Amino acid sequence: MSHFFQLDGVLHAESTPLPRIAEHFGTPTYVYSKAALLENFSAFFDACAGRDALVCYAMKANSNLAILDLLARQGAGFDIVSGGELLRVIAAGGDPRKVIFSGVGKTVDEMRLALSHDILCFNVESIPELHRLNEVAGAMGKQARVSLRVNPNVDAKTHPYIATGLKANKFGVAFDDALATYRTAASLPHLVPVGIDCHIGSQLLDDAPLLEALDKLIELVDALALDGIVLDHLDMGGGIGINYGEAGEAEPVPVGDYLGRVFARIDAWRQASYGGKPIKVIFEPGRAIVGDTGVLLTRVEFLKPGAEKNFCIVDAAMNDLMRPALYQAWMDVREVAPHDGEPVIYDVVGPVCESGDWLARERALAVGQGDLLAIMQAGAYGLTMSSNYNTRGRAAEVMVDGEQLHLIRQRENPADLFALESLLK
Ligand code: LLP
Repeated sequence: MSHFFQLDGVLHAESTPLPRIAEHFGTPTYVYSKAALLENFSAFFDACAGRDALVCYAMKANSNLAILDLLARQGAGFDIVSGGELLRVIAAGGDPRKVIFSGVGKTVDEMRLALSHDILCFNVESIPELHRLNEVAGAMGKQARVSLRVNPNVDAKTHPYIATGLKANKFGVAFDDALATYRTAASLPHLVPVGIDCHIGSQLLDDAPLLEALDKLIELVDALALDGIVLDHLDMGGGIGINYGEAGEAEPVPVGDYLGRVFARIDAWRQASYGGKPIKVIFEPGRAIVGDTGVLLTRVEFLKPGAEKNFCIVDAAMNDLMRPALYQAWMDVREVAPHDGEPVIYDVVGPVCESGDWLARERALAVGQGDLLAIMQAGAYGLTMSSNYNTRGRAAEVMVDGEQLHLIRQRENPADLFALESLLK
């Protein structure tokens, strides 16, 4: 059930009408539903019940401390891609020992920070990274647990910018090089190979490519075992998509069905080859946890009719929500309250000085100046990808819990945006 719905013609988040949020906190504002967040996490957590499995939320999707705190309390681990994200986990009260560290360019400082907090595992993406990590761990008198991110060369059938599992992508160790790379890892004195991982792309609606990738990981785990390298965990990455509401869009695979198929395949394999000895399974979902839990609430500044196009100019822009400009992503736009008059076809655009500054194209909207609109399914890769372009402060973030409203991020004040700059002496 969606926690954003129309009641008496007014769009609500749980039991709160969105206009109330605009009155209290202004616009543009990201509005999240706590119930939706907990429900989405439960879909993963419940499907893992009774198993040695860990859900490491890919916090790049939305790293607000309040969200991390809520998920940590439900038992989440975290998939991080920077030292900054690790500091967020700690600030939110998350457990660093449930953290896995992904990314192709980890710095020495980031490795040190992560080792000092005893994170669960480094997902390593190259041989030079193995050597760097071995040196850093050695200098600290530590052993680093590592997993290799294997690039299974599977087509995730998604937008090229968010497909990551093909040979042409910068990510991971090529499937054919994986065995040799594990041997290198095993030979380095301060590394312990404990796992294998992959992440083939994002916004996958069908789980067939993920299961194909799983088969390739299984093949490697077996080959490694013959070589004496026995792994404790297998990490499927993230990637399960959500419904953005575009006409003709396929439904995403239900989370429980996908996890069920992963576990069934793994159980059959472990039964056949390892006398039933289980292997820990890790998932790194981002969008599927937060994507549909948030909307971007924005106000219409002006309506500007044109010869070829009509523009609906709103106070949110590409700096607040980059997905349309960057990926030509289709995001649903809804009127927050009824407006008299027939709908008109508009391009919904922001005030930023770029033609690429659009949020939605050719939408039928019944709106007037000063009305509110909601950009739906904006909970993932919204605020986290936002910028200060045009010296625009980032939007506020509000978490709704029934009728209760929590301001979980204040709107940025323009003076703060240049506080770190200085004039020449
Ligand atoms: N694990 C790794 C190693 C990743 O790189 C990602 C996302 C995830 C997990 C989480 O993937 P998810 O479950 O959210 O699909 N900004 C783009 C999406 C970029 C995804 C990057 N990696 C967008 O707005 O569509």
